[in-house]
Amino acid sequence: MDFRHQISSPGALAGLTADALLVVIHGDAFDPTLDAPIAAAIRDAVSHGDFQFKAGRTLYVHRPAGVKAARLVVAAAGAAGVKAFKTALTQGLAQLKGLGAKHVAVALGNAGEVTEQHAEALATAASDAIYVYRHTKPSAPSDSAMTKVSLVCSKTEARAVQRGLERGDAIAAGVTLARECANRPGNYCTPTYLAEQAKKLGKEHGLEIEVLDRKAVEKLGMGSFLAVAQGSHEPLKFIVARYQGAPKAKAPIVLVGKGITFDTGGISIKPSAEMDEMKFDMGGAASVLGTLRAVAQLKPKLNLVGIIPSCENMPAGNAIKPGDVVTSMSGQTIEILNTDAEGRLILCDALTYAERFKPAAVVDVATLTGACIIALGHHNSGLFSADDALADQLLAASRESLDPCWRMPLDEEYDEVLKSNFADMGNVGPRAGGSITAAMFLRRFTSKYRWAHLDIAGTAWKSGANKGATGRPVPLLTHFVLSSAG
Ligand code: BES
Ligand code: MN
Ligand code: ZN
Repeated sequence: MDFRHQISSPGALAGLTADALLVVIHGDAFDPTLDAPIAAAIRDAVSHGDFQFKAGRTLYVHRPAGVKAARLVVAAAGAAGVKAFKTALTQGLAQLKGLGAKHVAVALGNAGEVTEQHAEALATAASDAIYVYRHTKPSAPSDSAMTKVSLVCSKTEARAVQRGLERGDAIAAGVTLARECANRPGNYCTPTYLAEQAKKLGKEHGLEIEVLDRKAVEKLGMGSFLAVAQGSHEPLKFIVARYQGAPKAKAPIVLVGKGITFDTGGISIKPSAEMDEMKFDMGGAASVLGTLRAVAQLKPKLNLVGIIPSCENMPAGNAIKPGDVVTSMSGQTIEILNTDAEGRLILCDALTYAERFKPAAVVDVATLTGACIIALGHHNSGLFSADDALADQLLAASRESLDPCWRMPLDEEYDEVLKSNFADMGNVGPRAGGSITAAMFLRRFTSKYRWAHLDIAGTAWKSGANKGATGRPVPLLTHFVLSSAG
C-alpha cells in the first residue's frame, strides 16, 4: 500500500483530490473552520438522527454536494488522543475497504496537531483493514480497491507525518508477515516452513540466517527442546536470524519466539474443542520474524538477533511422558510433569543459547499459558521482568505503538512450586498463578543477561467469527528495538 502525506487545511478539504475523504472527529463538535459543504453534510445527518458525535458512529455520504471527493466518510472518535483516532479510523476504513475508492485521504476534523503517531496509526490501521487471508481459501474476497492512503496535514507537520508513515509502513509489513505465517494451518506452517520464511526474509532484507537441524541441536545438548520434538514426524528447526546495523562489537538485542507449529498437548493431550487454534502456538516466532522484517526496512543503527526454536508437540509411541526427566542445555534437569507445558521446555534451551551473543537484553515472546488469558483477557499481553528499567522500556514501547502490555509480578516466592523430588525443577506448578510460574521457570535460565518475557496467549490471535492472527506484538517489539538504538 502507498502511504503519503497531503498538505491542506481543515478549510480546504472539499477541494482535495482523492476518491474518498475520511474525516475523524474527536469530541462532540468539529473545527469551526471545517469546509462549509462538509460541515453542512454532517449537520444535516445529525439533525436527521443519522449521525452522532459518539465513539463508534460513522456516516457515509455519496457524492456530497460541493465536495470534490466522490465519497465522504465521517467517523466519530469520542475521546481525544491517538488511540481513539485509530479506533475511529479503523471503523471508517471498514466502511470504505469494500467500495471502489482507490485513494483515501484522511483528515482530522478538529483543530489540533497531526503527529508522527497519528501517521503511524494510519499506516497500520489501513494495512490491517485490507488484509485478507487467502493462502488456503480460493474463495476469499478479492483485494480491496484501496491502494493509496494519505494523511492531510499542514506544511509544518509534514516531516513528522512522513516519518510516522515510514515507520508505520515497516511495522505494517511486519504485522502482515506475522499474520500470514500464523494463519497458515499446521500442515502448511511447519518448522520447515518457518525456516524457509526466515531464509526468504534474509535474502530479501540482508539478514544472516542460520538454521540448525536435529543433529546440531543434539550436539549443543538441548535435551529439553529435543524432548518436545521427539514425538513428531516433522523435523525440528532451530532458527537464528541476525540483523547488523551497528559495528559487530555492539551488544545485540535478542528476541526469542516460541515456534510450536501445533500444540496437541502431547500425552497430556488437550480437549478437542478449539484445539485447531493451537496452530497459532507459533505466534511468538511469527512476531519475531515480523519484527525483524520491520527493523530490516527501517535500518536503525543497532544489532538484533532473532532466535526461534520450532517443532510440533504431538502424542506418539516415542513421545515424552509425564514424569520423564530431561537435561537442558544449561545442565539443569527438568521433570516433565505435564507434556502440555512444552513452550517453556523449548524456550529454556533457546534462552541458554542466547548467552553466546552477550546480549544487551533478551526478550522472549510466547503463547505460553492459558492462565495469562484468565488474568488479562485479550487486550493486554503479559509482561514479566525482574529488571525495572527493561520493563519500563517495554511498557513505554507498548504505549507508543498502541500495542498494550501489562506488567505481572515475578517475586521469588512464586519459585517454590517448581521444586521436584526427581530433578532440579518440575515444568509446572499448580493452576493458581500459572502464567507467573511459567515465567519463573524461564527465569531460571536467564541469569547471564537482562531479560523480559511477553506472554501473548491472549493477544496473538482472535477466536470466534473473526478468527485469525493479529500480528501482535510486532508493533510493541519494533518500538522497543528502535528505542534501544544509539
Ligand atoms: N500453548 C499453550 C498455551 C495456550 C493455551 C495459549 C490456550 C492460548 C490458548 C501452552 O503450551 C499450554 O498448553 N499451556 C498449559 C500449561 C499448563 C499445562 C501448566 C496451559 O496453559 O494450560
Ligand atoms: Mn501446550
Ligand atoms: Zn503451547
